[in-house]
Amino acid sequence: MDLIAPEVAQLLETLTPERPDIMLQMEQRARDTAFPIIGPAAGHFCYLVARMIRARRIFELGSGYGYSTAWFARAVRENGGGMVWHTVRDEALSHDAQRYLDALGWADLVRFEKGESVERLRLTDGPFDLIFNDIDKAGYPASLDVIETKLRPGGVLIVDNALWSGRVFHEEDRSASTEGVREITRRLTTDPKWTATIVPIRDGLLFAQYH
Ligand SMILES: C[S@@+](CC[C@H](N)C(=O)[O-])C[C@H]1O[C@@H](n2cnc3c(N)ncnc32)[C@H](O)[C@@H]1O
Repeated sequence: MDLIAPEVAQLLETLTPERPDIMLQMEQRARDTAFPIIGPAAGHFCYLVARMIRARRIFELGSGYGYSTAWFARAVRENGGGMVWHTVRDEALSHDAQRYLDALGWADLVRFEKGESVERLRLTDGPFDLIFNDIDKAGYPASLDVIETKLRPGGVLIVDNALWSGRVFHEEDRSASTEGVREITRRLTTDPKWTATIVPIRDGLLFAQYH
């Protein structure tokens, strides 16, 4: 099922500004290997938000080989400098991310940490201006307890896969991953500590501000 009309998805991609060849290579790798990166339209939206709030400290959970990281590093650099935490449990992906960010010339803006991302966040001093969450979906609700201790008041949380390829609409789907997406959505949209909505780009971005 196409959740976003193909014409709209296509239009958003054509509106995404030019990016370095290395980022295009990362997009090609995702197509070749079916690796779930956020893609150019959602990446550009994340970049735009980071620019708008002038984010200098950004923490990413579930960073893969660094494509979303590249968008955030670009924003931090244009905001005058800062740091993006890249966290992933896979050693090879962490290594690949370092190689790509190095080739982009932005590696000095990124801290690469291998391990379980929520645990890495728990062990890292806040506060952060922006946190981006793209870990295994069953882990979303528990991650929120840690995120709330690390985001500055007024800080922004972006959570990928809010639409979960449409599975959130299938009532009979009670899998841990689908329930994880439903639960974090419910908490972010009903808890008075948060103001949140879903931005329907690609697989849906939960977009929330912490008070
Ligand atoms: C969806 S992919 C990341 C894509 C990346 N955010 C991007 O858009 O370029 C998620 C990655 O994080 C890893 N991952 C998932 N849950 C994790 C967790 N709890 N801790 C650390 N890594 C995790 C997965 O193995 C995978 O490599």
